[in-house]
Amino acid sequence: MAGTIKWSFERVGRTDSTQEVARKLAGSGAEEGTVVVALTQTSGRGRKGRAWLSPEGGLYMSLILRPKRSGGVQLLPLVGSFAVADGIKKDTGIVPFVRWPNDVLIGGRKVAGVIAECAYRGKNLSYAIVGVGINCNARTESLGEYAPFSTSISEELGVEIDLTILRDKVLECFARIYAEWERSGKVVERRKEWISTIGRKVEITRGHRTTVYLAEDVKGDGSLVVRSGKDRLALRVEEVERLREI
Ligand code: BTN
Repeated sequence: MAGTIKWSFERVGRTDSTQEVARKLAGSGAEEGTVVVALTQTSGRGRKGRAWLSPEGGLYMSLILRPKRSGGVQLLPLVGSFAVADGIKKDTGIVPFVRWPNDVLIGGRKVAGVIAECAYRGKNLSYAIVGVGINCNARTESLGEYAPFSTSISEELGVEIDLTILRDKVLECFARIYAEWERSGKVVERRKEWISTIGRKVEITRGHRTTVYLAEDVKGDGSLVVRSGKDRLALRVEEVERLREI
């Protein structure tokens, strides 16, 4: 039935990256719904080769998926980001926003990030691994250079949260939005008001060039429509190194 993934958990204490653990499990046949959860990571991975600092107190997990569709996998970071935003809202009442393409923000600061990695056998998608990192109970001062732009749920709420409850809310939301994506390929259209980037000035780095644009829209295929003077272009997720809302 739509929206039902049978989740099972592989708990690791300290690991290099749950993405790596999940990749090995998926390669040896682990089922869709296997979730690797760590207390802390020593080499947490972010988008575009960046590091994801992972002190204890955060929620770090990688979801093994075996999608029934191979088209539209570029939407998986957004599927994950919408699920995280919705899960945080359902758990805490805080309303986060999604900064295109994979960040979850509270009050303009990053509280979570999502990464999606796919493996193919020939031309066929074999599995996808969606990694989710949420700053929950750790203080953002432990996040080094990222601290000024980051927040955590406990800093926003003033109390620590139960990581298992949040994990389950995020997974419940993920299963629903993922089922929608598998069925129709459409997840953006109904959720544009969740995306803080739309209508904002953005500074975008592609290769060695950084340009300021007005972000006008996110298309159904996940690309970001931006304008600079008379130029209007749709940027694919992979093309963009870094995006800053200004
Ligand atoms: C980003 O913001 O660039 C994405 C961050 C994704 C971090 C999570 S934490 C769990 C999983 N394991 C990793 O090494 N990365 C993802």
